[in-house]
Amino acid sequence: MTGGRRLEGAVPIAGAKNSALKLMAAALLAEGTTVVEHAPRIADVSTMAEVLEALGSRIAWVDHRLAIDASQAGGHETPYELVRRMRASIVVLGPLLARHGRARVAMPGGCNIGSRKIDLHLRGLERMGASFSFDHGYLVAAAPALRGEVISLDFPSVGATENVLMAAVCASGTTVVENAAREPEIVDLAGMLTEMGAKIDGAGTTTIEIHGSGGRLLEAVSHRVVPDRIEAGTFAVAACATRGDVLLEGARAEHLDLVLAKLVEAGARVEVGDRGIRIGMDDRPAAVDFVTLPYPGFPTDLQPQMMVLLSVARGTSIATENVFESRFMFVDELNRMGADIRTEGHHAVIRGVERLSSAPARALDIRAGAATVIAALAADGVTEVSDMHFVDRGYEDLEGKLTLLGAEVERERAPRPALR
Ligand code: EPZ
Repeated sequence: MTGGRRLEGAVPIAGAKNSALKLMAAALLAEGTTVVEHAPRIADVSTMAEVLEALGSRIAWVDHRLAIDASQAGGHETPYELVRRMRASIVVLGPLLARHGRARVAMPGGCNIGSRKIDLHLRGLERMGASFSFDHGYLVAAAPALRGEVISLDFPSVGATENVLMAAVCASGTTVVENAAREPEIVDLAGMLTEMGAKIDGAGTTTIEIHGSGGRLLEAVSHRVVPDRIEAGTFAVAACATRGDVLLEGARAEHLDLVLAKLVEAGARVEVGDRGIRIGMDDRPAAVDFVTLPYPGFPTDLQPQMMVLLSVARGTSIATENVFESRFMFVDELNRMGADIRTEGHHAVIRGVERLSSAPARALDIRAGAATVIAALAADGVTEVSDMHFVDRGYEDLEGKLTLLGAEVERERAPRPALR
């Protein structure tokens, strides 16, 4: 990437990765063909397709339309090779218990952003009657009958809320999830499950009530994925960092409240219209403090990108990361590009410098990788970012979209991950 070009123009926002993956898992709760519309063509969605195929589903893509025929999905085992590639594979646990009363899922290990336990998933499902044992790296789950219960999560975990929700829709009786996650992706999943015939109240609030079907599977439907607020936020920050002006086509401002407010505090102009969100910045950003929290707080998935913007701000900002303990790891990469960031536990002090300078850099995970790309776009000179396969997990054709906006980007080797 050759830095210093303003990003200008319109960019279409893809369907949300973190919703599409769960909608795909929910296809296991129906016997017919579920269609996920506006599904992003990214590596993680391909991996989830492989997970579903390993369980006996048939997958067909037409453009961004993904059809999942789960009528023959008799399998209950998810291999290590797939879970290792993508931890979110664990989200088939709830649907498998609902459908087959058993599951054998490879245990996800830690990853580059933290140790990432699944104790809350297991405790919730245990309360509903599931039992778990461990066998050579596999989690072996059995639930001859799932029953509704009150489940109070210690932390509003996105994945635990989703696993419990998908088990509860087919359980007997009423499940109440207290301290539930409130992310738009949870609302999207609950919306699709409701279209499938489930009875769910309160999705998007801290208490979700689910009236189970008593063991009956649901109806297959066609559902359009909610727009990706994290991809939209990434392009919003990139527009600001390059003093550009970009229309985020299809982005939903109500899902980015705090992010847009922080960008405005830093000096951005934001207009919300029928086509999406238009955002631009003319001058060096002002310093802004921010704290990551579960939704509706500032998303941890935009923390690295925001740090890049603030690394060239006038003044000193403080960022606090409350969700994943290792998400500051990429700071060393950014400091190699001339940023002045010091971390202390889950706080980072970002002293704004005039300009970043190009240096060879690595993508450390999906979002840190996207942040490194933004740093390269804003830096002097030519930056080579390696390990872009991390970014391909979550961003569809990032270099194509950046080129559309006027960036100077070249991709070595295959321009896109292998998609079927
Ligand atoms: C989802 O991960 C997203 N992934 C993440 O997106 C996102 O960063 C995260 O939610 C927070 O918004 C998907 O949706 C596929 P959590 P998830 O359970 O569900 C702790 C990206 O880049 N915890 O809400 O795994 C956990 O360790 C990614 O797109 C437990 O302690 O997040 C973490 O500190 C990465 N025990 C915190 O809770 C548990 O049983 C939040 O995790 C579960 C979680």
